[in-house]
Amino acid sequence: MRPAVRDLVGTLTDDDLPAYVYDLTALRDHVRAIRSALPERVELLYAAKANPDPRILRTLAALVDGFEVASGGELAHVRAHVPGAPIAFGGPGKTESELTRALNSGTERLHVESEHELRLLTTVLGDGLARILLRVNPPVGVGPAALAMGGRPGPFGMDPERLDACLEVIAADPRVRLHGLHVHLASGLRAQDQLALVDEVLTWSEEWAAHRGADLAEINVGGGMGVDYTAPDQVFDWPAFGAGLRTLLARRPGLTLRIEPGRSLTAYCGWYVTRVLDLKSSRGQAFAVLSGGTHHLRTPAAKQHDQPFEVIPDDTWLPSWSRPEVRREPVTLVGQLCTPKDVLARGTTVDRLRTGDRIAFAMAGAYAWNISHHAFLMHPHPAFHHVEDAEAPVPAGPAPGTP
Ligand SMILES: Cc1ncc(COP(=O)(O)O)c(C=O)c1O
Repeated sequence: MRPAVRDLVGTLTDDDLPAYVYDLTALRDHVRAIRSALPERVELLYAAKANPDPRILRTLAALVDGFEVASGGELAHVRAHVPGAPIAFGGPGKTESELTRALNSGTERLHVESEHELRLLTTVLGDGLARILLRVNPPVGVGPAALAMGGRPGPFGMDPERLDACLEVIAADPRVRLHGLHVHLASGLRAQDQLALVDEVLTWSEEWAAHRGADLAEINVGGGMGVDYTAPDQVFDWPAFGAGLRTLLARRPGLTLRIEPGRSLTAYCGWYVTRVLDLKSSRGQAFAVLSGGTHHLRTPAAKQHDQPFEVIPDDTWLPSWSRPEVRREPVTLVGQLCTPKDVLARGTTVDRLRTGDRIAFAMAGAYAWNISHHAFLMHPHPAFHHVEDAEAPVPAGPAPGTP
């Protein structure tokens, strides 16, 4: 936690918690470093689904080549908060109305998920022009991924044989321009595995294009760059990944490669800060009940991991009875929900933890608040704070704290 974030957390009263704190300076530095590791001809899009917080989007706007959205809602949100930014619209099950809105708002790329979706697109195109990538699920191995979305049967993209019918639709309709292929197969890969996957995808795509006489100007190889919640200091090896991409691109003059990571860009900039409401021992095991829980931060429940955290001691203790505490003992951090699934970290040994101390959960900047079931039990929503060093402020947003 940077000192500026710690200072802000120090100003929050018990009534201000739980709160999300987004470190925009850390985000900017992180994405600048990623950018400088990537070779030319690699375009970096941010997958807004990871965290569509408006100030995060505006911070990223200056650093990325555009945004990937996966619904009409995300499309409207990104358009409203970063007007003019290039957008690629992907995701399964696009409706007629979403496709129409995408076309009307000048969406730069449409990632087409099926022949049916392509035909639907042609019915709403009117006099317009659609620049598309066909999303394919090619026969490549995804390696040791945390979450596989391809390389096996699934609803995402098309089997290679299905692409032929799309080529026929495209050949018959001059309003549809095929720019290339889109392949997002997995999330949670390390740099070497991701690189091996990109290599396979490029080789397969070229062979496919050569057989079909298709011209591929662009290949979007998706996101999925790994984030290790057990080792917050070990980030995806962007320099190695960038160097590998440079080698792959050197053999392919004229090809533009796109990537669209989400988690690996924003996970590290977010903190979920809360406090210990109660500490108890049950059949020999210590439990700390925290304000908030997985209805605010669903990430550990969704991914079945322990969310990394820091204890921030708070020495204030006003009640007349002695303060419940644990010392050098494993403790399970749970939230306020009436379900045994409301666990944020399981059996983590702490030096000392007392009722009233604060807990700052790290790596809470991606798939955190926006994937959580906020309405369950009707607890209040957290506040949202943004920390940013004075150097280059992001314009204030219309609704601070709007997720
Ligand atoms: C099509 C597509 N692109 C990009 C992403 C972003 O993945 P990640 O956040 O793991 O980088 C996803 C995530 O599901 C996705 O489905």
